[in-house]
Amino acid sequence: MPKKQLLLPKDRFFSYYQRHRQALTYNEVRLETMNSNVNPADANVTSFFSRNIPVNIPIISAAMDTVTGFKMGIAIAKEGGLGIIHRNFEPDEQVEQVKRVKLHMGGRVAKPICVRAEQSVGEIIAWRDENRIMKGWGFSSFPVLNAQNRVIGLITQTDFDFCTNRAKTARDIMTPFKDLVAASPKTTLRGAYRIMQKARKKILLLIGKNHTLAGMYVWIDVERLINGSSAIFNVDSAGHLRIGAAIGTGANEIERAEMLIAAKCDVLVLDTAHGDSGNVYDMLRTLKRRYPEVDIVAGNVTEAASAKRLVKAGADGVKVGQGPGSICKTRTVAGVGCPQATAVYQCAKAIRGSGVPVCADGGINEEGDIPIAIGLGAHTVMLGRLLAGTTESPGLVQDTPKGRYKMYRGMGSISAMRESSASRQRYRQGKDMRKLVAEGVESIVPYVGDLTDVLVKMVGGLRAGMGYVGAPTIAMLQERANFHAMSVAGYTESAPHDITIIDPSSTDRWR
Ligand code: XMP
Repeated sequence: MPKKQLLLPKDRFFSYYQRHRQALTYNEVRLETMNSNVNPADANVTSFFSRNIPVNIPIISAAMDTVTGFKMGIAIAKEGGLGIIHRNFEPDEQVEQVKRVKLHMGGRVAKPICVRAEQSVGEIIAWRDENRIMKGWGFSSFPVLNAQNRVIGLITQTDFDFCTNRAKTARDIMTPFKDLVAASPKTTLRGAYRIMQKARKKILLLIGKNHTLAGMYVWIDVERLINGSSAIFNVDSAGHLRIGAAIGTGANEIERAEMLIAAKCDVLVLDTAHGDSGNVYDMLRTLKRRYPEVDIVAGNVTEAASAKRLVKAGADGVKVGQGPGSICKTRTVAGVGCPQATAVYQCAKAIRGSGVPVCADGGINEEGDIPIAIGLGAHTVMLGRLLAGTTESPGLVQDTPKGRYKMYRGMGSISAMRESSASRQRYRQGKDMRKLVAEGVESIVPYVGDLTDVLVKMVGGLRAGMGYVGAPTIAMLQERANFHAMSVAGYTESAPHDITIIDPSSTDRWR
């Protein structure tokens, strides 16, 4: 952490409130507009969720059982964000969810389907066609292995097309290894792109020890991920969608973390209601000692000193928010917490310059809260309610005479805690079901359609904010942002008022 911190414009604004121990929330502040040459469409909204995990849009889906399962994980990573699979799953189920995201898409093919050198072309075609029907195979390129499992060539659709005699073997029609391009198993997606483009080859074989096959890249996937329609996808260095998963504290949770790491989960989120507590630090230190290469985001906290302690203990990201969420009762039940704008500001300021990103978790109620949260110092925002009503969240749409809804519940609601020990652990509750104290509620939210449509509005709001502030990047928004305090009258003035809205598309369906 740097010794002397750079003072930013917002520091003076907040110092006034902090002198009086007054805390503010999103609806009580607005960003100051500034002279700007930034066109919202050109604003760069890429950011980091943790030290080593980038996002193409700064939006993270909450680790809640009515928000993020594998479907949300896939959909949000395809939009450039990141999903955090909740931990009300048993560890093996959670791992399965992570794998479904990681294996969803092309990129590096970890275990290519191969054929044997002496197999006949007729046999291979029959087997391929059967798997097309049974397993939906859409490919026709097969590395060819000899009896020692060494790669000796490749057959592709072109070889099948020009083969007139189906009794010939794979060896007879294959392109021999000497005419192929191969690279080391460590080759990244970008590395593969460069090699394939230079060699003008559509398949890149990754060759490991003893000339065995360690993976493969296919041009159509690589090209789409680097330049094409998939360039916005949030993918790892091998071209697979990124995903995170929540873990708790304690011995069993170390096992869960190890299983998730083995499944190639990109980032773990130490997901607790009180991040500044002994068992969180124990867990964080143990995991960072054993797996220094795995990013761990820890939380939740709301005080500057807590954020500093988490960074000191090795956190690669700090999650901020205690009780701002739409389904939260922590503040009313326990009488604790800090309104979210001040919480985000003071945690971000405390660890400014450390390289550890802040995620503002909970209480994002409208698009404009996103540029505000980032202006306060957050690098990403975590959304629960705003994503719970989408097609991709877990659970079914309920049709009622009054409209279409999906269920959304707090992880500390009675029903979530009854169903899952993880929920009870998050809120530090005992096993006796009669003595559960809810820190969250169960609710329904309007069904709002596909995630893409919701995110267009969220990211559109962020871009607009960046345009008004004159911030071409997230870092510049954090640096330039200054605030006005806003009264209730000011907030009333800020939203459409004193009219009857007649254009349904201009009223937001999620409110
Ligand atoms: P939003 O406002 O996006 O908030 O719906 C989502 C965040 O709320 C947190 N969360 C809870 N907090 N009791 C709480 O006090 C709960 O039962 C609960 N469940 C979720 C969580 O941080 C989530 O990301």
